[in-house]
Amino acid sequence: MERTLVLIKPDAVVKGLSGQIIFELERTNLRMVGLKLVNVKKELAEKHYEEHKEKAFFEKLITHLTGGFHNNSNVVAICYEGEDAVQKIRNLAGKTFPDEAEYCSIRGRYGRYNHKTDCVENVIHASDSPESAKREISIWFKEEEFVH
Ligand code: PPS
Repeated sequence: MERTLVLIKPDAVVKGLSGQIIFELERTNLRMVGLKLVNVKKELAEKHYEEHKEKAFFEKLITHLTGGFHNNSNVVAICYEGEDAVQKIRNLAGKTFPDEAEYCSIRGRYGRYNHKTDCVENVIHASDSPESAKREISIWFKEEEFVH
């Protein structure tokens, strides 16, 4: 059984899209085994995105996840479980940049590139491999927070 992590980011939370995104992700028929609202601090965001720390956009990414662009640092963290969980969620999420994502994908429909802040507001994060999923899930969830 594979697990994957989804983060509904601050841009989606302020737009009132959390419920809609969960509704759309349920089409995968994956089992939701963990769900919580997290007030994201810098340390957690930096740990989550540590592989990108040398990238030019790193600071933007951290500011976004910690809510600096939306006056809201709440993120919905969800762990899904099931066969091919990573790929099934990635397929619905769409490509990283909303203007390159399929129109009917979650990012294609709800995301945007914010030219004022120069930051991608792509509404969700979805683990890109089973290995990154394991690492990311262990950052966001404690074992006792999962339902069995
Ligand atoms: S890379 O370089 O291919 O590894 O990067 P990529 O996988 O495309 O993106 C990694 C995460 O960085 C975010 N990103 C950005 N954020 C803000 N501004 C810019 N310009 C930018 N470019 C990439 C991207 O959304 C990925 O985060 P998640 O949360 O997975 O969407």
